[in-house]
Formats: sequence, C-alpha cells, structure tokens
Amino acid sequence: MKLKNLILFLSFCLILPACKNSSSSQKSDEKMILIVYYSHSFGNTREVAKQIHQKFGGDMVEIELVEPYPDDFDLVVAMVGEERENNFRPEIKNIVADMSIYDVVFIGSPIWYGTASTPVLSFMEKYDFSGKTIIPFYTCGKGDEGSYVSSLKRFCPNSTFLPGFGNSQPEREEGVHIEKVQDYLDKLSF
Ligand SMILES: Cc1cc2nc3c(=O)[nH]c(=O)nc-3n(C[C@H](O)[C@H](O)[C@H](O)COP(=O)(O)O)c2cc1C
Repeated sequence: MKLKNLILFLSFCLILPACKNSSSSQKSDEKMILIVYYSHSFGNTREVAKQIHQKFGGDMVEIELVEPYPDDFDLVVAMVGEERENNFRPEIKNIVADMSIYDVVFIGSPIWYGTASTPVLSFMEKYDFSGKTIIPFYTCGKGDEGSYVSSLKRFCPNSTFLPGFGNSQPEREEGVHIEKVQDYLDKLSF
C-alpha cells in the first residue's frame, strides 16, 4: 500500500511539471487581438466587429466621443463636411489602457467622405502601432473604401497591413452582408 502511494506521488511529481510547460508554451504562441471600431449611423460597423470577435475572440473596444455626433444622418453628413475643411478631429475618450500588449489590431470604420471617419482618425493619432499587424475593415453606402486603408497607413509606418475588407450596402436598410464577412473571415489567417 505504502509502495503504491510512493509510486503515485512520484508519477504526480513527474507529470505536473510537464503539464505546466505545455500550457505556458501554448500561451506564448497565442496572439493578443484587439478589435477597435467606430460606428455611428446604423450599427453596421459594430455588426462586422461583432462577427470578427465571434470568430477570433480578443478584446473589443468601441470608440466613443467626448461629444458624440448627433443621431440624425443628414445632419452629421453636413457637420462632417464642414469639419473636413478644417481637419477637425473630435476628442475621444481614452479607451485602450495599454496598446503595447496587442499583436494584431483590427480597425473598423464607416466610410465618411471616401475615407476613415473622423473618430477613427482621432484614435489613430493617439497610439503607437509599431510592430503590430493591422487589419482594416469598413462599411459604406453606395461607394467603396476610397482612401480608407491608405489613410490608416499614414499613422502606422512600422506596421504590417493585411488586406482589409469591407461591406457596402446598396440600400441603407439592408444591413451588413453577413455571408460576405464570414467568407472573408474564414480565409483570414495571421
Ligand atoms: C458623414 C458621413 C459620410 C459618409 N460618406 C460616405 C461615402 O463617402 N461613401 C459611402 O459609400 N458611404 C458614406 N456614408 C455612409 C456610411 O459609410 C454607411 O452608412 C456605413 O455603413 C455606416 O456605418 P455605421 O452604421 O457603422 O455608422 C457616409 C455616412 C456619413 C454619416
């Protein structure tokens, strides 16, 4: 009986360190993912962000403004049109405590005037993305991504960009094309 116990004890001592090693090496292989996005009008960009989160996990952060834009679509279009002429950047709430911990950053925006929305530009100005992998995503109306990706690249000269993806809606009410997003996400590896 005593010998049996001794054998059990010795096997436990041998097995435990082996288990510890395998779990810690697995952890160091995992990439830290941040999904950051702004969404204003219909929640379209938020919807895509949620799908990315479902697929890859990680931390998800919605950019919030100190003074949010009004809800009215046409009013915002007019406001942003004027702001663009002065390169205005709305103040955002400080939302990412430690950017340095992330390896992969998904950055999502509605397309505003053919490029990134002003809140996303404010966000990009605030952080250092050196050494990270950036994956841009967007939603838009009848247009396309325009200069969205290149507008982000200006803030990240030392980052690796993966091809971004977007989702345009022929009709506002139609919402995001779920299958298109899923298809992209299924092929994405980083
Ligand atoms: C200020 C403003 C400017 C916009 N400019 C464009 C544009 O240039 N091209 C386009 O296709 N859609 C444009 N849109 C439509 C949005 O990109 C589209 O509705 C987007 O899916 C909204 O995403 P959200 O619901 O996450 O805010 C604009 C919308 C706003 C409010």
